Amino acid sequence: MPVPDDTGSPAAGSQRAGGSGCIDSRPMKIAVTQIELGEADADLLAVGLTEDGSLPAELAEAAGAAAAKGAYKRLSTLFAGEARVVVAGLGKSDELDAERLRVAAALVAKEAGSLRASALAWVLPEGIEPAVAAEAIVTGTVLGAYRYDRFRAADPDEPAAEIESLTLLGPAEAAEAAATAGVVAEAVNRARDLQSTPANFATPTYLAERAEEIAAAHDAVSAEVLGLEQIRAKKMGGLLAVSQGSAEEPRLIVLRYAGGGPGPTLGFVGKGVTFDTGGISLKPSAAMHEMKYDMSGGAAVLEAVAAIAELGLPVDLVAVVPATENMPSGTAIKPGDVITQYNGKTVEVNNTDAEGRLILADALAYAVELGAERLVDLATLTGAVLIALGSTYAAVISNDDELAAAVTAAGEETGELVWRLPLHPEFKAMMKGTVADLSNLASKREAGTITAASFLEEFVDGKPWAHLDIAGTAWDVGREYTGKDASGYGVRLLVALAANDA
Ligand code: BES
Ligand code: MN
Ligand code: ZN
Repeated sequence: MPVPDDTGSPAAGSQRAGGSGCIDSRPMKIAVTQIELGEADADLLAVGLTEDGSLPAELAEAAGAAAAKGAYKRLSTLFAGEARVVVAGLGKSDELDAERLRVAAALVAKEAGSLRASALAWVLPEGIEPAVAAEAIVTGTVLGAYRYDRFRAADPDEPAAEIESLTLLGPAEAAEAAATAGVVAEAVNRARDLQSTPANFATPTYLAERAEEIAAAHDAVSAEVLGLEQIRAKKMGGLLAVSQGSAEEPRLIVLRYAGGGPGPTLGFVGKGVTFDTGGISLKPSAAMHEMKYDMSGGAAVLEAVAAIAELGLPVDLVAVVPATENMPSGTAIKPGDVITQYNGKTVEVNNTDAEGRLILADALAYAVELGAERLVDLATLTGAVLIALGSTYAAVISNDDELAAAVTAAGEETGELVWRLPLHPEFKAMMKGTVADLSNLASKREAGTITAASFLEEFVDGKPWAHLDIAGTAWDVGREYTGKDASGYGVRLLVALAANDA
């Protein structure tokens, strides 16, 4: 991707956003073939090795074979004639699972990058179901090879991985899982692009254009984008309040996917704050630049819809992404102001930095109106969730045990883990207003992730709903396949949830 020749100033930024030219559309070619290891036409061959296992017989005599070890995360290189082989340590065979394979595959992908390999072949390991292994290796490879370099000149010392094809050597029964994982992992990387794109480019308008692009690419998807006047006319008081301090106009983005199927209509809602300064309740400057990723929930929702449509999953789905900046200015909302949300409830805005819940409140109520019968929202909502669960688990808070279990299962399947936190009337009581129905700021600091969710529950009209606080998992997760910045968290979980529903 070339470095843009514009300046990124507001006018240039929105001009550039007109092309939405950020999405690199050269997906890795994925194939599964049942050929012998020696016949693979690849410039790098990868095989897994467990601590208590042994190399395939064909490699036993290869140069370096004796030194290859199966310790988890260890890579060794062998030469078998012309062929270069990387051996990926998988640890103890009874601990081998999909997550370990994702990590091993990401390490191999990075190695392939530094070796300038463009055709990679992987032998599906023994002791794990071929379809499960295929998902893990494809996901680990596609995500592990990712780097965001839209604004960077090419660095000859650190060239980006350019793996064009990944061939899995294994049984045909793994082919569907491999292809599906390829589609989903590319969607994750597009969500990461959106997360990493700086806020002078990734504006609410830019997210809306990405949604329209997704709709244009898939017959079963339609987009509806509300602009400022329509948001005003609909009286979405939360989205209006948060956006009123900004020179960038808000957008209320709706994607609908009609895949059919007998299940209830799913509703996905994603927080799309393209930059969160805190507003008049201004954030400290130290880490403020990271607040470009406050639209991670929205990015995950948009790209999950794109993946679900590409896979043609038999579900009906409505996705709502409220998109806005949160800025301080002479027109900004002030602490203590009272607003009326889309569903008629009034809210005292006692802290303008608790803006996510205000826009999600309107979006959840709107999703219900549009027919969502089972709601999942994703939001970088609270710093408190980082204290509670770090970057390892997202918090899930739900009014419905069955939905919470389905979300948890999708998390375990994909490695996008969630941990459930409770609701309780005592938390709800902490969100009561003094002059309005509700306050957006809890009466106590404790349990900040839960009180935020308790506020959201006021807007789901009793429908089964699960809120995922992804402030910790969207960024700087540090796993081998997620990297240190944008993780794309949520795309794989949402697709799995829809697939399990179908
Ligand atoms: N976007 C932030 C939450 C956040 C914090 C995301 C750190 C990622 C990393 C959110 O809008 C926010 O500011 N939340 C406040 C709420 C508080 C004012 C009740 C918070 O968590 O401090
Ligand atoms: Mn905030
Ligand atoms: Zn925020």
